[in-house]
Amino acid sequence: MSTKEKLFAVLISPSRKYWDSYYQACKESEKAGERSFLHDLKEFAHLKKGEDNNFAAYQKGITRQLYFEKVNGESKMLNVPSTTYWLVDKKEYIGIGIIRHRMTKAIEEYGANIGYAIRLGKRNQGYGTILLRFLLQEAYRFKINPALITCSEDNIASKTLIEHAGGILRDKLPSTEHGKPITLCRYWVRTDPKSIQKNKRS
Ligand SMILES: CC(C)(COP(=O)(O)OP(=O)(O)OC[C@H]1O[C@@H](n2cnc3c(N)ncnc32)[C@H](O)[C@@H]1OP(=O)(O)O)[C@@H](O)C(=O)NCCC(=O)NCCS
Repeated sequence: MSTKEKLFAVLISPSRKYWDSYYQACKESEKAGERSFLHDLKEFAHLKKGEDNNFAAYQKGITRQLYFEKVNGESKMLNVPSTTYWLVDKKEYIGIGIIRHRMTKAIEEYGANIGYAIRLGKRNQGYGTILLRFLLQEAYRFKINPALITCSEDNIASKTLIEHAGGILRDKLPSTEHGKPITLCRYWVRTDPKSIQKNKRS
């Protein structure tokens, strides 16, 4: 058993019990100037300043993801149902994962079925590997197989994570991240129990 397997992490639905810890992680991310939307309460849960330390408002904001999309030549805001999870270890919030239940053209081009982030200070300790495995299991429950997962070509940690989970590169697309041009790698990752087991690293 590797040290990574010794981490006592579980996947939960966002819970009031861990709210302070999650809120702290968002503040850490903001302070560090990191632009991970999953740790940005304004972007992810559509909260305004002043209501951003409010678990009930957060819960309401995370059930959907909003995407601009051209429909018959018109720019429309589409609403995509999503499920959010937190990875926690004992009393601490560790990371966040999201499953988008359906694809739109915009999501295919710059989003994914699954997104994730580990809080600053807890990275490179094996939590991302555990989190992605849990999310693949959840995606399978929702009949998403394979799942589309994407990352910027220079996001080495995320690329490694996806490839170790059996990700097959579908293609690379020119895209943008926070206004900067990037190359987006799009992967298909199988979510069935056999594939997850096969790709489990011991
Ligand atoms: C991507 C992310 C979730 C990875 O989580 P993590 O907890 O650091 O991942 P792990 O510790 O399980 O490491 C996974 C692999 O990546 C490697 N890795 C982790 N951080 C790395 C880094 N900074 N540079 C190079 N390799 C790295 C690890 O060595 C490990 O490989 P191994 O299994 O061969 O040892 C985390 O870096 C993160 O939250 N990043 C910001 C948000 C983000 O980019 N999300 C993905 C959007 S596409």
